[in-house]
Amino acid sequence: MLSLISGSNIRRFMKLLERLDGNDNKSATMHEIQELCSSKGYVIEFVSDRTENFGAKVGIPTRRNTENVFVKWHLVPGEIKREANKVGVLKDLRSVINSPKLYDATQNFLVIEWIDGKTTSKDDVERLLLAVDHLVLIQSADVTRAVLRTHLKREWLGQQEFSDFLRNIETAIGNHREGFGDSADLWLEQIREMDQNRGVMFPDIIDPNERDFVLSHGDYKPDNLVFVPQEASLKCHPVDWVYAALRPRWYDIASFTEGCSGNAELENAYKNRYCSQLPSKISREQADKSYCQHRSLAALRVANANARLLTEGQRGEFTRSLDTLGALLEKLQFHP
Ligand SMILES: Nc1ncnc2c1ncn2[C@@H]1O[C@H](COP(=O)(O)OP(=O)(O)O)[C@@H](O)[C@H]1O
Ligand SMILES: [Mg+2]
Repeated sequence: MLSLISGSNIRRFMKLLERLDGNDNKSATMHEIQELCSSKGYVIEFVSDRTENFGAKVGIPTRRNTENVFVKWHLVPGEIKREANKVGVLKDLRSVINSPKLYDATQNFLVIEWIDGKTTSKDDVERLLLAVDHLVLIQSADVTRAVLRTHLKREWLGQQEFSDFLRNIETAIGNHREGFGDSADLWLEQIREMDQNRGVMFPDIIDPNERDFVLSHGDYKPDNLVFVPQEASLKCHPVDWVYAALRPRWYDIASFTEGCSGNAELENAYKNRYCSQLPSKISREQADKSYCQHRSLAALRVANANARLLTEGQRGEFTRSLDTLGALLEKLQFHP
């Protein structure tokens, strides 16, 4: 049983961990952290197996056991500040959007409310439909729009960013050419074409029309959704708000369905559930068009991220995502 670490206890805990930080936090194993914690009388229970960003229940055993905290350890201090700011900005919306409470952010550590539930897998349709409904709810949280606008950046995809995407992918293909065989040239050709036509391909997205910007989580996927059982139902709690911003409403649903990796039936189920709850001012035709554009952008984001992983030898993933992207672009008939 664990209790909430607060006030001076948080500082003590931080000090403890800073010792590791000061030494060589990159090589500290979870075992070492565990040892250190228990030698000081702290209880730590890991929930994920990555040292650099561990989910852990941390506490000091007491007779009065109340809450747990979640500690996230970022190697880049700036990141933690960013995430803490976002969670802080969203505090007035917490009861609507179910984001975690912020307790503290010191050095590389973010200390937030422990959400006592479970994330889910990609094919848990029932829960993920619930997640889609929750996304609609997040996007309609417009009571504090003025506050959000002051504190969250408005992000949309400019032509420059799109062009950067393509450059990255191009470089990855260039560096790993032999692995792509004949398809390398085809892809390079397609990328050049996309680059030339980028203004035609994404005309709406580069229009910073403020009215269409909503609160966007930025990384809305099963990994970042904690489900908590509630009497007869379930509650969806998004975590990991580090990428939160104001974006076009299609960003999150498109990232979400991108995760269906080509399962069209699943994708349609989520997409239709989302579209059936859109504000009435958005026509079905407009919805389809915007969805498709953002869906291909989401595929590009993944291709881009995978391109960076290429150096670590994950070419298989990259080729698959390029194929998906290719099929999608074909479907959308983006070629003028
Ligand atoms: N507040 C929280 N309460 C409970 N579990 C959490 C909380 N925040 C994150 N988690 C769990 O820890 C995992 C990693 O945390 P997350 O913030 O998503 O880090 P990352 O940046 O590595 O994705 C999540 O997938 C989730 O399972
Ligand atoms: Mg995450």
